[in-house]
Amino acid sequence: MSEFKASALAPSNIAFTKYWGRSNAALTLPLNDSISMSLDKLQTHTTVEFSEKFKKDEVHIGDSENPVRNVEGSKRERVIAQLERLRVLAHNSMHAKVVSKNSFPTGVGIASSASAFAALTLAASNALNLHFSPKELSIQTRLAGSGSATRSIFGGFVKWKKSTHSNGSFAMQLENESHWQLQDMVVLVSAQEKKHSSLEGHGAASTSSYLGSRIKELKARNAIVVQAIRDKDIEALGVEIEKDMYSLHCMAMTSAPPILYWQPATVAILHTVTQLRSQGIKAYSTMDAGPNVHIIFEKNSNTETALRNAMQPIPGIQKIIVDGVGKGARVVDNHLF
Ligand code: PMV
Repeated sequence: MSEFKASALAPSNIAFTKYWGRSNAALTLPLNDSISMSLDKLQTHTTVEFSEKFKKDEVHIGDSENPVRNVEGSKRERVIAQLERLRVLAHNSMHAKVVSKNSFPTGVGIASSASAFAALTLAASNALNLHFSPKELSIQTRLAGSGSATRSIFGGFVKWKKSTHSNGSFAMQLENESHWQLQDMVVLVSAQEKKHSSLEGHGAASTSSYLGSRIKELKARNAIVVQAIRDKDIEALGVEIEKDMYSLHCMAMTSAPPILYWQPATVAILHTVTQLRSQGIKAYSTMDAGPNVHIIFEKNSNTETALRNAMQPIPGIQKIIVDGVGKGARVVDNHLF
């Protein structure tokens, strides 16, 4: 084997029940199980090459609107920390060149760390001839520090298990990508980098007095969500994902210091989705740690048109992207979007 090079593609994902707070920050062990849907078009393609010819590690990142460019600072450091972890496992000390490209514009509020760290871990481990099982790959991805990336290893509908042991906290597929044609309408209300990162939010979670009740109610909620996905029951799923979103944001707003991610447009979208339901449109809102709203609905052009029409008059909406359920992380040819 003369070439230590591999490319991988990994999906972004939207959590139905959210990871919020850690029992162990160094090992990224979550306080609760979380369940997500892997997305189709929102993904990251990453190529990693290890070679004696590189005098230092290089990290190049781009997206659908910006060509790949060399990055420095904390973004580069997080990538290199993951490379380093994998190099130790492979007993390999060669420097690497990482070229990573998102299929979507970065910096508009779509989380890119899930797809980015899943693609990085798969490409780097393959380049180093560390052929992990999908379960082990999800554990190695988790150790990069982005918990949501753990779930991006699998396609379709995915659960990430909590554990107090590193080997016990991994992702697993609940149903594959052809099981249920759900859609995620991502309504972007802010193009600004958020003031409070999810890492900051996880750190502050234990300061909210609602943490205990959230963890308690999540057990029953996760069971309902698993069953709703199995039964393709959009109403049962929708009710729980909205509750979970409000529960996470309630914790963020009541942590020390409080974190308020919502913008006026966020609130207007949440009201509009609720109102549309009273007209028979089965659509439900969820949000990550930011002001953007993800509207979940079963694939249907009438529903999509009704949602788009309802979003149109709301001031402050920057962009709408609709995506479906996608495949998990996989090794691919070296091509860019
Ligand atoms: O993966 P992180 O550390 O960026 O945290 C993700 C946090 C949420 O997006 C709010 C929830 C989740 O489970 O994806």
